[in-house]
Amino acid sequence: MNVAIVTGAGSGIGRAIAVQLAAEGYKVLANDFRTEAAEAVAVEIGGLACGGDVSNEVDVAAMVAKAEASFGPVTHLINNAGHVHQGRFTELKVEEFDRMIAVHLRGTFLCTQAVLKGMLARGQGVIVNIASQLGQIGGIELVHYSAAKAGIIGLTKALAREVSAQGVRVNAVAPGPINTPLVRSLSADWQRAKAAELPLGRFGEPEEVAATVAFLCSPAASLFVGQTLGPNSGDVML
Ligand SMILES: NC(=O)c1ccc[n+]([C@@H]2O[C@H](COP(=O)([O-])OP(=O)(O)OC[C@H]3O[C@@H](n4cnc5c(N)ncnc54)[C@H](O)[C@@H]3O)[C@@H](O)[C@H]2O)c1
Repeated sequence: MNVAIVTGAGSGIGRAIAVQLAAEGYKVLANDFRTEAAEAVAVEIGGLACGGDVSNEVDVAAMVAKAEASFGPVTHLINNAGHVHQGRFTELKVEEFDRMIAVHLRGTFLCTQAVLKGMLARGQGVIVNIASQLGQIGGIELVHYSAAKAGIIGLTKALAREVSAQGVRVNAVAPGPINTPLVRSLSADWQRAKAAELPLGRFGEPEEVAATVAFLCSPAASLFVGQTLGPNSGDVML
């Protein structure tokens, strides 16, 4: 049986991933530090909800224990939880930088550590880390966010080298601008300018990212190891 944990599943891309995987028959635990949002998604998909902050070790251990107690061993982990914040580099506060790294990079590290030993013992598992194209090209007023996302891409590649021969596939997804509350929180000027320069001419929808994640989760992606796939409207071409 496929058992997936999706972090930050209470909104946007994470919610769409949870919906897609549940539709494919996965048992899904929807995590979010906004507990009510996680619960609403869990009800919608017939899954399990778990409040908790991915940057907190105790919360992460409780989340994995809850999934395993209800569903059995976790076979798929989607590290998706995240937030964005804009600020000129010279004005960034240390706390803003630390929080960005904590949620994205430390969160990915903690959640992955919490499931990886079990996956290795069973000789199978899939981990998908949601990065961002800004981790590939950088973004003005987004140094901390870009650094955190580049860190996730590096973590993905290094871990994939370390564990793929033991049956655990680790990959990343680096979306372009996707129509979610996160992007809608960025300045209107940024959104207008960004939409105008996209080859596809539009932002993506969360379901279009979920389709990429579902592919990486599936046996059809058996040769994908340490890759960073880019559902990004053509904004970044590698
Ligand atoms: N929307 C985009 O354009 C875009 C582009 C590239 C990458 N991403 C990445 O995709 C992921 C999802 O973003 P989204 O656009 O769906 O945003 P969103 O704001 O719609 O959803 C993010 C969810 O994560 C939750 N969350 C935040 N911090 C958390 C924490 N510490 N612990 C647990 N849950 C937490 C929030 O409560 C929220 O429900 C993020 O990692 C984001 O950086 C988004």
